[in-house]
Amino acid sequence: MKLILNNENQYLVKDPSKDFHCSDGLIKAEELSKAKAETNKGVVYSIIDPTFSDIYAKMKRQAQIITLKDIGTIISETGIGKDSKVLDAGSGSGALCCFLANICKKVISYELREDHQKVAMHNKDLLGIKNLTLKSGDIREKIAEKDFDVIILDMPDPWNALKTTKAALKRGGYIVVYSPTIPQVMDVQMHAKDHDLLFVKTLENIQRPWEINDRKVRPVSSYINHTAFLTFLRKI
Ligand SMILES: C[S@@+](CC[C@H](N)C(=O)[O-])C[C@H]1O[C@@H](n2cnc3c(N)ncnc32)[C@H](O)[C@@H]1O
Repeated sequence: MKLILNNENQYLVKDPSKDFHCSDGLIKAEELSKAKAETNKGVVYSIIDPTFSDIYAKMKRQAQIITLKDIGTIISETGIGKDSKVLDAGSGSGALCCFLANICKKVISYELREDHQKVAMHNKDLLGIKNLTLKSGDIREKIAEKDFDVIILDMPDPWNALKTTKAALKRGGYIVVYSPTIPQVMDVQMHAKDHDLLFVKTLENIQRPWEINDRKVRPVSSYINHTAFLTFLRKI
């Protein structure tokens, strides 16, 4: 794969053995191995090898995906790393589980809907991920695997999955719940008590992008402000 980019546009070229077409014209396949190339309309592009994040940015999206700022917070708060075994539900478009698989030992992800699972499988293949198992199933009913370090729930009624996920979690492990609204957070906190899970904290991670253009330097006027609240529970 190659990433071709200039100040205006960025394209992921999945098969650099073929000519590449875009709105600025055509770049011949033999030009795609160079550092720079010009389209037949005279527009210059730089050509680089894409990073994981460059490919991730071009993933297919069907179910709403979790944002990078929230993924970053989940990783830093729970200490997920190269030795971690992680479970996630629902897979949705596979954004979270693919990102985590890139830094973890193993990730397993459950999904109810076949159409969503197909998108997650497509994205897993696009990113070349091998240590991720995408499973069909309702996480509220049964989890076949055990001994997870971290379990992340991005689904409408996560409190109904606390019994099964607690049983599949290592002692000391985290359940992280991603909830768009506060009534959901309240239900999670109440049910956590019933399941004897330690409520660690709920936080909202706000990221404000800025526009930097000569002396026009200010917060971007319109951007996604709220995504979700992250609630951290622990099995002790
Ligand atoms: C918002 S999406 C998850 C997005 C995902 N975190 C990502 O980053 O791409 C929520 C998904 O949870 C699935 N889901 C809802 N309830 C579920 C359950 N009980 N077990 C498994 N999957 C479930 C839905 O079908 C949907 O695909």
